[in-house]
Amino acid sequence: QTGLTALDYGFVNTASTQSEITYIDGNQGILRYRGYPIEQLAENSTYLEVAWLLIYGSLPTADQLGEFDEKIRRHTLLHEDLKRFFSALPHTAHPMSVLSSAVSALSTYYEGSDPDDVELTMVRLLAKLPVIAAYAHKKSIGQAFLYPDNSLSFVDNFLRLNFGNMAEPYQIDPTLSKALDRLLILHEDHEQNASTSTVRLVGSTGANLYSSISAGIQALSGPLHGGANEAVLQMLAQIRDSGEGVGKFVERVKRKEDGVKLMGFGHRVYKNYDPRAKLVKESADEVLAGLGVADPLLDIAKELEQFALQDEYFKERRLYPNVDFYTGVIYKAMGFPTRMFTVLFAIGRLPGWMAHWREMNLDPQTKIGRPQQLYVGEPERQYPGL
Ligand code: SDX
Repeated sequence: QTGLTALDYGFVNTASTQSEITYIDGNQGILRYRGYPIEQLAENSTYLEVAWLLIYGSLPTADQLGEFDEKIRRHTLLHEDLKRFFSALPHTAHPMSVLSSAVSALSTYYEGSDPDDVELTMVRLLAKLPVIAAYAHKKSIGQAFLYPDNSLSFVDNFLRLNFGNMAEPYQIDPTLSKALDRLLILHEDHEQNASTSTVRLVGSTGANLYSSISAGIQALSGPLHGGANEAVLQMLAQIRDSGEGVGKFVERVKRKEDGVKLMGFGHRVYKNYDPRAKLVKESADEVLAGLGVADPLLDIAKELEQFALQDEYFKERRLYPNVDFYTGVIYKAMGFPTRMFTVLFAIGRLPGWMAHWREMNLDPQTKIGRPQQLYVGEPERQYPGL
């Protein structure tokens, strides 16, 4: 009735959607964190240095980074009661469900502490999310939980918690550490995607940071969002096992048979190659060679990409590989089970979620988020018999 279309509507209050954190140009394939090109950060920085950059707006000094790293190391332990939380869950529980539930439970241990101490909460989440993630992994494979070793770097501590065990010392693999740190950097923020918008919307109601992050994890778990990295591996394995070949699979996608999609392709914003996908693809060759792993799924992925990029159907719809297309092959080569892939995405994205939550809550203009609806239902009508 109003003559307006849905495109005329968005968040009622623009203050709840403006941000200084990340810039994306979807047509040019540009991604910058606080002005720094993602390519430069991926090559030269670390996950914790970029986390500080996203949260506080500038690169940390050596002292600031050292202190930040030290604080995080000192907060890796979970309350012993919280460790028992995992025994209440089935070993078949999806690690993303475990992660979200445990983060929500984590807040119950700090309700008494200063709820406004956002800085300490961010340190606690950065320190404890990887531990919770590793425990979800160990739970799913029936192995004992290890205690964090705070003499190790952030990434090495995480790798040891996942792949170390009580029976033998864990060997640090520098190839693995560098590759994982780089992948985490590539996931740290991406403007106001579905999960970040969820964190902002929940945070705009005054809910605490733990609750907002727990909601963000659930939003990320969907196969159209972060869950796509897991879905890509399932798709590649299905092409391998069915023997249908890449060509036949692509034809099924074009016919939209049973809603099949080319997972890891397409994007709400990028209508060009996702700059992260380019960097991940380069890593894939390096990491697999460095680990001495030859995986036919990587060859299938490359063949699939070649096929799609030359096909009119994908070209006219401007569908290119996104960040999720090649990451799973690397995570698999590292030894992570497929269902842990989106958990790795969540650990990567945590700094971005927190940076957006903090930025929004620091802005006095921010009001509670309230997406405006365009009503297209029935006009007023009378109850029968009145
Ligand atoms: C992430 O927002 C972010 O920034 C997210 C993210 C981040 O860092 O936070 O980048 C992370 O979530 C990346 C996306 C991961 N998801 C997938 O890889 C799942 C597969 N891709 C899609 O389902 C899809 O591309 C979306 C969900 C990502 C985007 O969906 P849109 O916006 O609805 O796609 P579109 O409007 O661009 O589609 C236009 C056309 C349609 O065809 P027609 O109906 O016009 O004939 O392209 C088709 C779509 O059906 N299409 C696909 C496709 N994606 C879109 N066809 C086959 N395979 C696909 N993957």
